[in-house]
Amino acid sequence: MAENLIIPVSEDKTERYRSLIPQVRNLIDGEDNLIANLANIAAALKFGMGFYWVGFYLVKEAELVLGPFQGPIACTRIAIGRGVCGTSFLKKEVILVPDVDEFPGHIACNSASKSEIVLPALKSGEVFLVMDVDSDKLNDFDEIDQTYLQQVISFIEEKI
Ligand code: SME
Repeated sequence: MAENLIIPVSEDKTERYRSLIPQVRNLIDGEDNLIANLANIAAALKFGMGFYWVGFYLVKEAELVLGPFQGPIACTRIAIGRGVCGTSFLKKEVILVPDVDEFPGHIACNSASKSEIVLPALKSGEVFLVMDVDSDKLNDFDEIDQTYLQQVISFIEEKI
């Protein structure tokens, strides 16, 4: 695995992702432990992109359980179908939330979170985890984030 992370400095989000994504790939190459890889991915995205909160909820029986993350402490368990994460799990879809107060059932683990994006990772057609990224600014995520974060999800899916 890579031992250093080169933190992108560009003001441009696309450029930052383009610098970071290959590094994320290198970070998990050669390591098959899911938790170790999720932990490093969370750290790389937190420090590389400056996200307020980034982490994973893993599917355990009928719940989503908090996995590796970077940022303030978070809710440990989310019921299937609840909140943005539980809805992404149920629909097997990426969900972009420009304003969390406008999302029915949003779970406020932290009152500073204003917008978020949640992406599911699938194996054999079933969601096995979701990645959640939160911002303390409204309307902070768009299709650019979706495109590049989906690449990270693909790396995770390939290793399962
Ligand atoms: N807001 C999420 C809960 C997880 S935290 O934001 C870390 C949701 O509504 O599912």
